[in-house]
Amino acid sequence: MIDQRKLPHEEVYVKLYTYEEVAQAIETMVIRGAPAIGVAAAMGVALGVQKSKTIDSQEFLTLYGRLYQTRPTAINLKWALERMKKCFEKALDHDQPLSHIKQKLEAEALDIYTEDIETNQKMGANGKQFIKNNSKIMTYCNTGTLATAGYGTALGVIRAAHEEGKKFLVYVCETRPFLQGLRLTSWELYKENIPQKVISDNMAGSLMAKKEVDAIFVGADRVAKNGDVANKIGTYSLAVLAKYHGVPFYVVAPTSTIDLQCPTGKEIPIEERNPKEVTHFGGKPVGLEDVPVYNPSFDVTPHELITAIITEKGVFDPIYGRR
Ligand code: MRU
Repeated sequence: MIDQRKLPHEEVYVKLYTYEEVAQAIETMVIRGAPAIGVAAAMGVALGVQKSKTIDSQEFLTLYGRLYQTRPTAINLKWALERMKKCFEKALDHDQPLSHIKQKLEAEALDIYTEDIETNQKMGANGKQFIKNNSKIMTYCNTGTLATAGYGTALGVIRAAHEEGKKFLVYVCETRPFLQGLRLTSWELYKENIPQKVISDNMAGSLMAKKEVDAIFVGADRVAKNGDVANKIGTYSLAVLAKYHGVPFYVVAPTSTIDLQCPTGKEIPIEERNPKEVTHFGGKPVGLEDVPVYNPSFDVTPHELITAIITEKGVFDPIYGRR
């Protein structure tokens, strides 16, 4: 895995040999982004089973539980773990030898990986119509290859429009406090030669007021049944600004991010992270170290602020359904 904490200045790859190492890599943001977390967790399960000499349901549930507790908001994690669990139960049901179970789980994890790339390409194809030639768009956090198995969700739509030959500029919000926009999205766009301008998050409103933004594309960590969306902290503020200024606000997310068990955004658990992410820059304290800090990693954007949700299965209006 590429260590995302070191980008863009160092491209360091880490090798993970156990499910515990995968769990820690997710917790510490070596691997991040909802779909990438799901794919990595599936591979963590396959690794855990691979290493076991006597895997049984109890042992399987232990490694499932360890990976499940790594990050609470992205539902792709549970989605991928549930898929691995079903695969495990099916292999057990047929009273197969251990080697067969190991093989099946490895194949399932690899399927989750390849399907995610295909899903992202389909979302790109469905969403690129919303990026007009010679337009200026805005994106938030990192939703690209780094956040997925490849291609990206919102960044996949941007990639698809670029591949089609459209000319446009991407405003990249830096995405405080973890700076996924400044460090990761900017790096991905740079590699693809897609024109960009990085801004600090508080500049978005003034750009919209100047009619400098034609559309906004973001990803999602969880979409509730009513269409409310949990995504990186700051997404909600951007959606409110977009509504006020009449800028279309698109969420790009695979159906594996939709949680039908969650009626509304209110029930989505929001992760709170280390206060140092707010007070420190590059490991160095900037603010006072012993003052209380509020650091939720995600917020909820109510569905009425969302123009459309772009999935691999089509484009949906969160209020009226399929467009
Ligand atoms: O805390 P992170 O970096 O894992 O948060 C990532 C996001 O909020 C992304 O927008 C979301 O996972 C969608 S990525 C395809």
